[in-house]
Amino acid sequence: MKKIALGVCSSISIYKACEIIRLFQSEGLGVRVIMTEKATRFIQPYLFTSLTGERTIVELFDDGQRPIEHISLVDEISLLLIAPATANIIAKMASGVADDFLSTFYLAVKCPVLVAPAMNEAMYLHPQTQENIKKLKALGVNFVEPESGYLACGKQGPGRLASPRTIVDHSLRLIRSREAFRGKVVLVTAGPTREFLDPVRFLSNPSSGKMGYELAREAFQLGAEVILVSGPTYFEPPAGVHLEKVTTAEEMKQAVLKHYPRADVVLMAAAVADFRFCGNFREKLRKQDIRPVLEVEPTPDILEELGRRKERQLLVGFAAETGELREKAAEKMTRKGVDLMVANDVSGQETGFASDDNEVLLIWPDGRSRKIPRMSKRKISQEIMKEIEVLLNERRRQI
Ligand SMILES: Cc1cc2nc3c(=O)[nH]c(=O)nc-3n(C[C@H](O)[C@H](O)[C@H](O)COP(=O)(O)O)c2cc1C
Repeated sequence: MKKIALGVCSSISIYKACEIIRLFQSEGLGVRVIMTEKATRFIQPYLFTSLTGERTIVELFDDGQRPIEHISLVDEISLLLIAPATANIIAKMASGVADDFLSTFYLAVKCPVLVAPAMNEAMYLHPQTQENIKKLKALGVNFVEPESGYLACGKQGPGRLASPRTIVDHSLRLIRSREAFRGKVVLVTAGPTREFLDPVRFLSNPSSGKMGYELAREAFQLGAEVILVSGPTYFEPPAGVHLEKVTTAEEMKQAVLKHYPRADVVLMAAAVADFRFCGNFREKLRKQDIRPVLEVEPTPDILEELGRRKERQLLVGFAAETGELREKAAEKMTRKGVDLMVANDVSGQETGFASDDNEVLLIWPDGRSRKIPRMSKRKISQEIMKEIEVLLNERRRQI
């Protein structure tokens, strides 16, 4: 993977560029920073040079040592990201003005270009800026929409630089997109469900939703359209995914069945509660009114239902077990018509539910299996998606 060229302009949100660099580095990517001359009024280039280990570029006409760096750097990068992008740089790009290093470099690059605007809401909504953005989009330049909210100037509205995580996720999608996932709809379920007895008491499990959220992030980066049906979690949804929040197993089933006909791949990573109370009371029950033994009934088995209704979908199941992992997961895979089973042992403290790491066993219906040793859920999600890519490519060859 080549490195990222990060163009940084003169906006108060310039400080977020440091976090963007850190996130790229945590993905194993090098970054070369290009600052506009006015950006150096906010931050010294030395900060970015220290963070990246590479000299920050500001001047077009440097010391004579690297006379045509705006051309030589072109071959070293796989993406030009401009974040924060001012109204000024957007206008210059839209009209082909090349009067400093960054604007000249934009005209020279052949890789994808991603622009993350940041400005006062009036500047952003100005018809001239909007026309410039429209023009650049038509030329194939990609944009990460700014967020709405309180701006540094004290005004409220659209114009706040998108979060570094969102910008990096969109960047990675542009450089990691895979043919197998283009135009594909990936439906992911995540998190626990809650089955209420009354407004303050419920049955659930310790699932944090992390595995499902990482799978959704990975599917987005690989180029898929992602629908994430999530039970209650504390995570921010990954960039670019369509999020549908649910609480109970029944709600999750309805949401999943609604999207199922459009889905090409379904990843059932949610830890759906197996049981719910017989009876759900609208008012909080008094302690003395609750009997010591409460009756429960099974919740709908969503995976089994999907297996029954399966047409062209590639169905991936997740089995959380404590002991006899392979046998129990293989039995579920066969019974539920699953194409790939991801089994994990949740008896350990450091893997499984609510932990950052996991260790899983992948099982295929033809008897093959693969153990993925302990690693972060981010890495596990990448390994699982690589196997799904193989299955998608096999299917494509069969058609
Ligand atoms: C304190 C301050 C904050 C600014 N913030 C922004 C901003 O967020 N977005 C923007 O488009 N312009 C902003 N500007 C105006 C730009 O700095 C100005 O348009 C400049 O010419 C842009 O130059 P550059 O694109 O080469 O960095 C700000 C100016 C000042 C003084």
